[in-house]
Amino acid sequence: MQPPEASLAPPSGPGKHSSYEFVDRAPVLAALAGARCVLDLGCGRGDWSLALARAGTPVLAVDRWRQGLRWLRQQAGGLPLRVCEADLGAPLPLPDGAAGGVLLSLVLHHLVASGKAQDLLAQIARLLAPGGVLAIIEFLPVPPPPGPPLAVRLTPPQVLGLASEAGLTGALPRSIAAHVALYLLRKPA
Ligand SMILES: C[S@@+](CC[C@H](N)C(=O)[O-])C[C@H]1O[C@@H](n2cnc3c(N)ncnc32)[C@H](O)[C@@H]1O
Repeated sequence: MQPPEASLAPPSGPGKHSSYEFVDRAPVLAALAGARCVLDLGCGRGDWSLALARAGTPVLAVDRWRQGLRWLRQQAGGLPLRVCEADLGAPLPLPDGAAGGVLLSLVLHHLVASGKAQDLLAQIARLLAPGGVLAIIEFLPVPPPPGPPLAVRLTPPQVLGLASEAGLTGALPRSIAAHVALYLLRKPA
């Protein structure tokens, strides 16, 4: 029998909805599945982490939203999935090259708003193994709804410029839902 809390509906909190519910998942999962380890940074309630871990990819899911992490831990039994509460504005105590892939889904605009995006991308570049991939999902600057206020949305040149400053390279994004872009960036091998 499941413990009582495990049968509750997933929590609703920051972001209210998981991007996993409304984007084309295939290109995201294809880019990250099979990596030695994926960091899901700003994982929310962890739908992407669970999908990757259920497919056999080891995942470290990181967020500062305690309720979402608690729910995710309840779902993670038996899966190659670890959950960590941390602020992405501070250094993550992980070794260089620890990750084959990183997912930053609907999170980068928060770090831009708090002036921490450059530090975070530099950190991601350090944590990625050579040849590793960073998948960024962000709403395009088109008036909501759905999604965050127009003022915090990022243009493709902004996202690619931040990535490039960190030494990560990539082409223009592809659309994975109305006004939602997927950027695939690589750390040079
Ligand atoms: C819009 S939700 C996206 C959740 C999930 N990645 C998705 O795509 O559905 C943004 C998440 O980023 C987390 N977040 C934002 N800033 C953060 C920070 N500085 N440190 C840790 N988590 C942060 C929030 O707690 C929230 O869970």
